[in-house]
Amino acid sequence: MSFKDTIDQAFSTLTRAGMGSAKSAVILGTGLGQLLEEIEIIKIVEYSSIPGFKMPTVVSHEGKMVLGNLDGHPILALDGRLHYYEGFSMKDITFPLYVLKKLGIKRLFVSNAAGNLNPAWNKGDIMMVEDHINLLPENPLRGENDHDVGPRWPDMFEPYDSDLRAAIRQAASGIDLTLRKGVYVAVQGPNLETRAEYSMLRNMGADAVGMSTVPEVIVANYLGLPVCALSVLTDDCDPTRLAPVNIKEIMAIAAKAEGDLTSLLKQAIAGISRHD
Ligand code: HPA
Repeated sequence: MSFKDTIDQAFSTLTRAGMGSAKSAVILGTGLGQLLEEIEIIKIVEYSSIPGFKMPTVVSHEGKMVLGNLDGHPILALDGRLHYYEGFSMKDITFPLYVLKKLGIKRLFVSNAAGNLNPAWNKGDIMMVEDHINLLPENPLRGENDHDVGPRWPDMFEPYDSDLRAAIRQAASGIDLTLRKGVYVAVQGPNLETRAEYSMLRNMGADAVGMSTVPEVIVANYLGLPVCALSVLTDDCDPTRLAPVNIKEIMAIAAKAEGDLTSLLKQAIAGISRHD
């Protein structure tokens, strides 16, 4: 079956399941699982029953789509994201974006865990992504282009939507949260980086390094779907403060920042959904 036919099938499965009413969607990366506890759940559909959706292989990433109300605003949450290092293709990773667009989603919030490259910041901080550097080895738009879906050469002048960023800034000041703002660099992983690599990434102009998000942001821009991203900075990676990290510690810091990230997103979605 063609990519387009699979999108159509996923779309009909989800509309039949009543998942077509939300304007905001969230891809729950590390650090946002708690958001689901704040949602009044209306309906859950497992990825395994949606054509074209692949199941994540990473612990802590579920594989389900949740429709619910967040403070009275309908949202669609994708609980479980796919990473390139898991062996998925970029088309697998970004397939859900095409379906979200077709379902009528008007804005997308993405979260992730990332290493902190900025010496003035600390692990546990939350960064709003303002721009990115893509070091992933494959592009999700590689291949023949369907001009009815999006342009051959998508513009990346403002990859992270300014209205969504304004809503996040406003939400952060509303809850008295120090919001870091910076550049995210995407690398393949799954290993963390060497000291020399962290040094190179910092010198390139990045504030945070992670293994996700950029494929989704590229495709959202291609589709004309406004997108923004928030990173939980889970470990200090600037070469002056580098120490051995363990994944348990990264997860613990992500869990600690989860409350802040959840409140931030809740406020931001409430703020921007007022205009729906
Ligand atoms: N590097 C890449 N990805 C990450 C890191 C890191 O140091 N920390 C959390 N995600």
